[in-house]
Amino acid sequence: MSEAEPQERGREVWIEKYRPQSLDEVFGQEEIVSRLQSYIAKDDLPHLLFAGPAGVGKTTSATAIAKEIYGDDWRENFLELNASDERGIDVVRDRIKNFARSSFGGHDYRIIFLDEADALTSDAQSALRRTMEQFSNNTRFVLSCNYSSRIIDPIQSRCAVFRFAPLSDEAIAGQLRAIAENEGIDVTEDGLDALVYAAAGDMRKAINGLQAASVLGGTVDEEAVFAITSTARPEVIEEMVRTALDGDFIAARSKLDTLLTEEGIAGGDVIDQLHRSVWEFGLSDREAVRLMDRIGEADYRITVGANEQVQLEALLASLALEGEE
Ligand SMILES: Nc1ncnc2c1ncn2[C@@H]1O[C@H](COP(=O)(O)OP(=O)(O)OP(=O)(O)O)[C@@H](O)[C@H]1O
Ligand SMILES: [Mg+2]
Repeated sequence: MSEAEPQERGREVWIEKYRPQSLDEVFGQEEIVSRLQSYIAKDDLPHLLFAGPAGVGKTTSATAIAKEIYGDDWRENFLELNASDERGIDVVRDRIKNFARSSFGGHDYRIIFLDEADALTSDAQSALRRTMEQFSNNTRFVLSCNYSSRIIDPIQSRCAVFRFAPLSDEAIAGQLRAIAENEGIDVTEDGLDALVYAAAGDMRKAINGLQAASVLGGTVDEEAVFAITSTARPEVIEEMVRTALDGDFIAARSKLDTLLTEEGIAGGDVIDQLHRSVWEFGLSDREAVRLMDRIGEADYRITVGANEQVQLEALLASLALEGEE
């Protein structure tokens, strides 16, 4: 999904300014937070595997754990690495070894946070697993990934696995309200709804959207949000689908064209929006199932490299054809 980045100079980036400093402040992941807090309370931290989509609090929770365990010394006891480091797994392993071996005072173990662990090949993961074992007496690993199914079983079985879900609309709206108030920004209710819709469970995207829209000056309303987040209005998507189902391919195609070329919305994002709204269009079960089937096919083809516009047009065409039957 495309993400609006705030451009303004001299102003802090809000996703950092409002990043929760403690587990208490992590919104909308109550169950995960309370399990993590109980490990900390018992001073018994296992290796952890955090899985889930972007912008839901994985990195934030990992740093919050370190801050709670080590207080002001957290930076010396917490190493953040990215597994997709282009210099390769050997560099990552060297850094892990250096960090785990260097002497340190006070604490029983240090924490290594390995982001994008699912970017490692299974060979690299096997090597990582040996490294984890080698240093398990004084190191705890927190692995973060989008898909836990891409992590080899021997690693999964060594970790307590936490599945972070997309954040609820309420969690996102609550945080956006708090930030808007603190920054003295006027946000209309429809502006807030639009931010929540465009974010689709991703808090980073929601906060970036709010900051980007506020940079325009004035009140943050629906208009500003849809313009800045390159998200189509849900009504427009619905109209396009209905037109196709009514058998008018030419009109449906021209609505699609407006989205892709005039509004600059990415084809993949149109697919995501379609997917999220299928059940909200009030279609008959049969129509919804057919649409879902076609979305799945177009999504797959786009993922393996097919032309987005062709796939979306083919989707509309098949809805229009079947609508006529
Ligand atoms: N649960 C949450 N509560 C409050 N703020 C959050 C939450 N999740 C994310 N944020 C906000 O979004 C920003 C990004 O979150 P974070 O870095 O934790 O995402 P992530 O889950 O690690 O995503 P990625 O998979 O992209 O690395 C944070 O700095 C914070 O401002
Ligand atoms: Mg992260």
